[in-house]
Amino acid sequence: MRKKVLVTGGAGYIGSHTVVELFNAGYQPIILDDFRNSDESVLDGISQIIGSKPELLRGDVCDTNLLSKFIKENEICGIIHFAAYKAVGESVEKPLNYYQNNLEGLVAVLKVVSMHPEITFVFSSSCTVYGEPFGQKEVTEKTERSIPTSPYGYTKWLGEQIINDVFNSNADLRLMSLRYFNPIGAHESAAIGELPIGKPNNLLPFITQTAAGLHDQLTIFGNDYPTIDGTCVRDYIHVVDLAEAHVKALDFLVKESKGCHEVVNIGTGKGSSVLEMVRAFEQVNQVKLNYEFGPKRAGDVIEIYANVDYAKELLAWQANKTITDAVRDAWNWEKLIRSIE
Ligand code: UD1
Repeated sequence: MRKKVLVTGGAGYIGSHTVVELFNAGYQPIILDDFRNSDESVLDGISQIIGSKPELLRGDVCDTNLLSKFIKENEICGIIHFAAYKAVGESVEKPLNYYQNNLEGLVAVLKVVSMHPEITFVFSSSCTVYGEPFGQKEVTEKTERSIPTSPYGYTKWLGEQIINDVFNSNADLRLMSLRYFNPIGAHESAAIGELPIGKPNNLLPFITQTAAGLHDQLTIFGNDYPTIDGTCVRDYIHVVDLAEAHVKALDFLVKESKGCHEVVNIGTGKGSSVLEMVRAFEQVNQVKLNYEFGPKRAGDVIEIYANVDYAKELLAWQANKTITDAVRDAWNWEKLIRSIE
């Protein structure tokens, strides 16, 4: 029988791809979502890939009564917790919404996990917890976390802290924080992908939307940074690789007999500049992209990429897909949702 896994925010970008990979790996994912930042059509996309509609628990992750009732009625082996706000700029404008939703949601789920130590827990953390890693481009899990540059960043930073404190109070719990680098791309079937609400802040959705004609041009934020070509460098990871990392994380925790709070970088181990991403997009898809260089964006880290040794060692996981795969899949998805031939 398939083991049940609750996926909070399972209708979102990373959540939906993870639901697919959990199913492919033999788990039974159940989505908890209230669709405030996602679209119900995602369920059809998932069902096109896995052959059936995933089970849905409609509701707010902060609703502790809903969670308790669900746990009473379902035997689950783990909770993967994605449900959270994630727009850096918006978090500066509406910090209380971010602290309330992201921290309250996490606390609600951890309360359930604390009462049921048989339930394993995976948290969506972010490389944002490293802030600007001065003098160091490649970061390991031991690299000191610096001060986050936004309320969003603080919610991830504090999230890890809260999980640590919970683990310190109950050493039987099996917990893992995955520090994602920059997720990009879409499922190769183009049945699911990223659906940014409003104007995207992230690079790849802005590139695909510009190519699709939604914006006149892409502005590259800064071109005189001390990097290979003057533009910022990030570790872009295909969302399907990232989804598979969650499956490996769950496999690990479910088999683990003793309590833990593991923290693991999930990236490719390789940095790419903004210009390299633009060129890859143009070359792979044979599309010309209109872009200009503009001023630097406040708070941008110059160059950061993951050391992925620990992910290999602990989870036997590494990224398999390339930037070529990611820019191709992202463009196929954008073309499909915009009905471009
Ligand atoms: C941002 C967040 C990070 C979050 C991640 C989610 C900040 C400081 N960090 O990461 O906390 O986890 O999103 O995916 O905001 N760029 C352009 N033009 C654009 C958009 C982006 O040149 O229109 C550049 C940026 O300057 C940056 C790179 O592309 O150098 C990647 O930007 P983005 O996709 O926003 O990701 P991060 O800033 O790395």
